[in-house]
Amino acid sequence: MVLFFGIHDVCAEDFITKMEYAKMLYSNPRGIGCNKCHGEKGEGSIISEYTHKGKKVVISAPNITAVSKENFFKALTVQHKIMPTYFLTTQEMDSLHYYVSSEVKK
Ligand code: HEC
Repeated sequence: MVLFFGIHDVCAEDFITKMEYAKMLYSNPRGIGCNKCHGEKGEGSIISEYTHKGKKVVISAPNITAVSKENFFKALTVQHKIMPTYFLTTQEMDSLHYYVSSEVKK
């Protein structure tokens, strides 16, 4: 029995850390990765630049490292023009928020 619990702990708890899981989810959230638009750590990035009628147009995704949890959840549950709609669980959104905001603390 002691052996059983030992193995169980290693596999279920310690196999990947909360941070590793959150990072994985960020680049593969059942849909286009957040990193593709918001940058590897949520710092934001330019998605595309083009010229329309002689004017330069820049499409960018904002920095999301300092968004409150409330606004973060809101952004992931409403429809956007550029950002796709995701169908994430509360736990997944929590994990994503943890990932981008914990990067800022380093
Ligand atoms: C195709 C590009 C694209 C992808 C992929 C994308 N986003 Fe966005 N996101 C945007 C753009 C553009 C905005 C700002 C305009 C808007 O709200 O639509 C935005 C806005 C946001 C905001 C609101 C920021 C604020 O200041 O309130 C959050 C939070 C966010 N995204 C998180 C995510 C997360 C988490 C993912 C992955 C599950 C993701 N986004 C995937 C383009 C993207």
